[in-house]
Amino acid sequence: MCRTRGAGEGARARSIHLLVPSLFFAHTEGEQNEEPMKLRTNLLLTLLLCAVTLMLTVDAHGQAGMLKDDFGKTPEGQSVDIYTLTNSHGAEVKITNYGGIVTSLKVPDRTGRLADVVLGFDNLDAYLKGHPYFGAIIGRYGNRIAKGRFTLDGVEYKLAVNNGANHLHGGIKGFDKVVWNARPLKVGNGAALELTYLSKDGEEGYPGNLSVKVTYTLTNANELKIEYSATTDKDTVVNLTHHSYFNLAGQGEGDILKHKLFMNANRFTPTDEGSIPTGELRSVRNTPFNFLRMTEIGARINEPDQQLQFGKGYDHNFVLNGKIGTMRLGARVYEAGSGRVMEVWTTEPGMQFYTGNFLDGTLTGIGGRVYQQRYGFCLETQHYPDSPNQAKFPSTILKKGGRYHTVTVYKF
Ligand code: BGC
Repeated sequence: MCRTRGAGEGARARSIHLLVPSLFFAHTEGEQNEEPMKLRTNLLLTLLLCAVTLMLTVDAHGQAGMLKDDFGKTPEGQSVDIYTLTNSHGAEVKITNYGGIVTSLKVPDRTGRLADVVLGFDNLDAYLKGHPYFGAIIGRYGNRIAKGRFTLDGVEYKLAVNNGANHLHGGIKGFDKVVWNARPLKVGNGAALELTYLSKDGEEGYPGNLSVKVTYTLTNANELKIEYSATTDKDTVVNLTHHSYFNLAGQGEGDILKHKLFMNANRFTPTDEGSIPTGELRSVRNTPFNFLRMTEIGARINEPDQQLQFGKGYDHNFVLNGKIGTMRLGARVYEAGSGRVMEVWTTEPGMQFYTGNFLDGTLTGIGGRVYQQRYGFCLETQHYPDSPNQAKFPSTILKKGGRYHTVTVYKF
């Protein structure tokens, strides 16, 4: 891919390259009839020069890096930081250890121009005031658990109820509102930040001390890779996800209805009026949920379809094709104006596609951008909503002594 900074560096690298043949010929022309020993020395010198040139060429590209800044304090007095990760092409992600939130993600367009493609704020206060999970890590359970109840090992657990009669995104104080421990990691292919959090037994009603690790890596291939893992000391349920609202034209640059979407899903999980799955895995054929061919997000969003009416647009879990636990393409999104493409790869069985239906212009983000309805879309890789109460859905139970591990990559 072509990038503004990369292009300048490329020119520098090219000019170094051009010097090498002229040096080589200056030497060899004058010494054509000298003895073979001298020729060998020249050849060796030339090879050495080529090697140095190669090293300079590699070095001429940017280096991945990480910066840490103070991001303020929570009302309880906990210090919060913000980390800026850059890759060798100048792509950049900002992540705060408050909620593990991605506050900004800058990636190139078709000409190499960077823009921030996620909705977010540049100060902690705005996040503390409340927002619909912008860029956050969601846990212990992404999406809804009906009536905030489930039974495990014969015990009924009652969770915090925070969405009508239901439990949503981990409860009143989910993983999006806690301060994580952060540690920059050394990796060979970009910059990485490791976040850890211990969710105590009983937190928001869940059983077991859950030790969670989320690693964000901005790779030199312009990928934001998220690796989630967890262990518990008592059987529990876990379903972690990431909640960025994307707009590939740039945050605040209008709605996302003209973005084109491919979703690698033959089926989706229809819901009742409260967005709880009915348990059916319904074919997308002949419905507005068929994105097997790239289609504009807005092409059918206002059709008189009961499921779209329940969600006020798309707010549904898609059943991803392919084998659970293996990395496969879940979705691809294309924005024609910028030429940006985003692919989502995951080991997860499902993907919540949410079109920012509840954004209403009351939140103002970075650069004074007002976020109106459908100014961003989420592709949340996950297990299906309400799995703890749905015997036919893939299980979200994490056994004592077991290890939860999933990987998702947003590739640009
Ligand atoms: C849910 C929506 C919810 C949104 C943010 C999505 O993951 O599916 O129903 O409104 O998150 O609040």
